[in-house]
Amino acid sequence: MPRALRHLVPLGLLAAPLLAGAQAPSSAAPKVIPAAAVTPADRWWEEGVVYQVYPRSFQDSDGNGVGDLRGITQRLDYLKTLGINAIWISPFFPSPMRDFGYDVADYTGVDSTFGTLADFDALAKAAHARGIRVILDFVANHSSDQHPWFKESRSSRTNPKRDWYIWRDPAPGGGPPNNWLSVFGGSGWTRDSTTGQYYFHQFLKEQPDLNWRNPELQKAMLAAMRFWLDRGADGFRLDAFPHFVEDSLFRDNPVNPNWRPGSGEYDSLQAVHTTHQPGTLDVLCQMRRVANSYQARDGRSRLLIGEVYASPQQLNVYYGKNGCGAQLPSNFGLLGAPWKSDVIWQRIDDYMRALPAGRWPNWVLGNHDNPRLATRLGPDAARAAAVLLLTLPGTPTIYYGDELGMRNVPIPPDRVQDPAEKQQPGLGLGRDPERTPMQWTGSAPNGGFTTGTPWLPVASDVDSVNVAREQRDSASTLALYERLLKLRKTEPALARGSFRLLPRQGDVVAFLREDGSRGRYLTLVNVGTTATTYAPAAGDRLTRGGKRRGTIVAGTRGRRGDRVTAADIALEPNEGVVIRLK
Ligand code: NOJ
Repeated sequence: MPRALRHLVPLGLLAAPLLAGAQAPSSAAPKVIPAAAVTPADRWWEEGVVYQVYPRSFQDSDGNGVGDLRGITQRLDYLKTLGINAIWISPFFPSPMRDFGYDVADYTGVDSTFGTLADFDALAKAAHARGIRVILDFVANHSSDQHPWFKESRSSRTNPKRDWYIWRDPAPGGGPPNNWLSVFGGSGWTRDSTTGQYYFHQFLKEQPDLNWRNPELQKAMLAAMRFWLDRGADGFRLDAFPHFVEDSLFRDNPVNPNWRPGSGEYDSLQAVHTTHQPGTLDVLCQMRRVANSYQARDGRSRLLIGEVYASPQQLNVYYGKNGCGAQLPSNFGLLGAPWKSDVIWQRIDDYMRALPAGRWPNWVLGNHDNPRLATRLGPDAARAAAVLLLTLPGTPTIYYGDELGMRNVPIPPDRVQDPAEKQQPGLGLGRDPERTPMQWTGSAPNGGFTTGTPWLPVASDVDSVNVAREQRDSASTLALYERLLKLRKTEPALARGSFRLLPRQGDVVAFLREDGSRGRYLTLVNVGTTATTYAPAAGDRLTRGGKRRGTIVAGTRGRRGDRVTAADIALEPNEGVVIRLK
């Protein structure tokens, strides 16, 4: 389970299905997912690959030590060469940066740290010219307490914007209205001395929750979405949307009997009255209607990605009825998974089985809230995980720098920035280590990220783990990503082919992607730390008499071009291969 924001997982919802699934026998017949029809031109994201840019850390163009929009524009050619189709940019809106942009003080501007609206326009134009779509991060659960709306709201009980936020009287005996907690620790309620009432905040006290039950607030937020769509945004990643709506009766959250001190106070309660409430899907549906209204104009769909840590069953709800939800509710199943073959196999199977017919899958292995892939799994397993990520069916998301094998960077106490660490020090909840500067080169100061002092330290392995070096090394992690991304583009079987998860053999997770006569691919990943062999089960269509042969077209160990007999394939520890079958 993700460490930092694991508190965003409604415990009752996630733990039960996934753990139960992990114990199921691996021989259960996996579901076969049929090949998807040819992509309608408007659904570019189905064959696309999303790349998450954390703008503070990608490229600094003005030497102030913090990345910016011009910096991203300067690096678009790198992203084009890498072969991704869309960038999702974490928030760059005006913000006091208490939560590094996830506290928005103006939904229709650009923070001066990151540039100007003109810089955004230039970025969108340059990205589109390269065939790269631009997805913005829409932080709609809460604003900053410095947003003019909140300043008005807190000014008096009768202010017209009072109801744009969530205000309650103190409990009868004094103190917070109920036991709801903040994700970052402590009560979710803060008393405001101006009126003596409490306001609710699911995150920091500087991030008051917006009241999505208020029609005027709804209108204002949807107008902000239109503002960016009018400027060329291709969609939104919807931050923390399961938190949008709270219980209208303000009932206490029940105690979590499984909570252990040391894992973050938020987990001590089950957030059943503060997440996944009735009404959440209605908000998503309103957002989707806005997105669809742009598609109706020019035929190009605008993508909504929903940030949701939940069981497959729960996240499927957010595809919405009749498509009135997010196109891609994020699938974090593998992000939090221990690197064990039974768990990995089961999570893939659970997710694919639960996927509603006609809905498009997606996979996430890293983001700005969780330890780096190469730190969680180790460098070799991280490469094998890339083989999974980029050959499973559906839209993958790559977190910036994971394509290089970037690792968490230890942050000295005096350089800690993240409120998650500052509010609950020592629990390992801080997210700075996975947010450090992109490693462009070993031959310039600060890895080529900035000429100033970087806001977080640059990794000490920058001399070996960097874009410039890895572009010259055909055995590098970057070369592996580029190869896999190219295959997805050229091979319809990998982009839209059918999917069959094969019975697990020991530590090997295996699946088949097929597109009629246009190709059959077998992915094999040895999730174990000892060498092994994979032999398709008798009767499996792979073997056809035990003689079927194939060619490795991508792999973690540089065996490209090797011919293999699909009846018995040797795999090194943590090796992943993609085999084109004849
Ligand atoms: C989820 C974001 O990914 C995280 O970084 C942020 O702290 C919270 N939402 C609050 O916006």
